[in-house]
Amino acid sequence: MDSKSLRVGFMGAGRAGTALALALHHKGYAVSAVASRTPASALALAERIDGCVPHAKAQQVADDCDLVFITTPDDAIETVAKELRWRRGTWVVHCSGAKSAAVLEGAREQGAMVGSFHPMQTFPGAGGAGVELSGVAFAVEGPPPLLETLKEMAHALGGWPVEIRPQDRALYHLSGFLACGAVITLLAEAAGLWKVMGYSREQGLEVLLPLLQTTVNNLGEQGILASLTGPISRGDVGTVQRHLDALESQAPSVLPLYCQVALGTVALAREKGGIDKAKERELVGLLEERLARARGLFVG
Ligand SMILES: NC(=O)c1ccc[n+]([C@@H]2O[C@H](COP(=O)([O-])OP(=O)(O)OC[C@H]3O[C@@H](n4cnc5c(N)ncnc54)[C@H](OP(=O)(O)O)[C@@H]3O)[C@@H](O)[C@H]2O)c1
Repeated sequence: MDSKSLRVGFMGAGRAGTALALALHHKGYAVSAVASRTPASALALAERIDGCVPHAKAQQVADDCDLVFITTPDDAIETVAKELRWRRGTWVVHCSGAKSAAVLEGAREQGAMVGSFHPMQTFPGAGGAGVELSGVAFAVEGPPPLLETLKEMAHALGGWPVEIRPQDRALYHLSGFLACGAVITLLAEAAGLWKVMGYSREQGLEVLLPLLQTTVNNLGEQGILASLTGPISRGDVGTVQRHLDALESQAPSVLPLYCQVALGTVALAREKGGIDKAKERELVGLLEERLARARGLFVG
């Protein structure tokens, strides 16, 4: 069956569901039904897609579609799959990064074919439109022919499919957290230091954003080691010492985070060849001592 003639349905008209439904619709897929916990959410999405019917009950989406994406929060996926009646042969797919298709066992037991389709991308807003999917990796999972269709969809959206072993799902997902949520946390801490300097966090972010953007570009163009700059990569121990002193006196809550991240940076600097073994030992000793002191573990 041509995948463009599949009747595609969505359960959960939130951030990811809205973005994926719109993106698939724009690529010519027949997104034909949607349901959500709140009828208004389903209606808002359906109004943006010609031929898409908002349903009050998820069961109607299960009854009317060939391929159903469950785009509820992760914790609701298993219950939604279990509580509905599935026609034999229906394709049921969730979009969680952390979970494998095993959580759809309730649908599989009824004869559905189950899989997962997770874009390694962030959808922060409910609007869903304009989210960049080109170049995005999609973790795809499922038996054939569902798997082939999900791979085809990943390519149609401008991305590419990647297969992750079920036992690696948590690592796969947390790699995304480190590259997205953790970066936001780091930026919040970095921008927050500007409050200590008499500016707002927003002003700090404005100062730091061009630096972050160039760093991201460098990573894409040159890779990890070539993008590494700064005092640790040069072995400037005195500058690191000044950072630690400033944090101890002006922003002690940031000190443990700085030390942990800096220890990781020391390892990268060594891998890059920017510092020798002796400098590595000196930096690690300094950072570990300050980290222990910050945690109140230092004795002597
Ligand atoms: N956001 C991202 O960046 C992102 C990226 C990749 C993958 N994902 C995955 O996509 C899935 C959805 O995440 P999200 O960020 O889009 O969450 P979200 O914005 O909270 O949207 C979830 C939607 O599901 C609806 N819902 C909740 N419980 C439901 C139920 N029992 N039955 C039917 N609908 C229900 C919600 O309620 P209302 O109808 O009340 O609005 C909401 O519209 C998750 O598996 C997540 O891991 C998210």
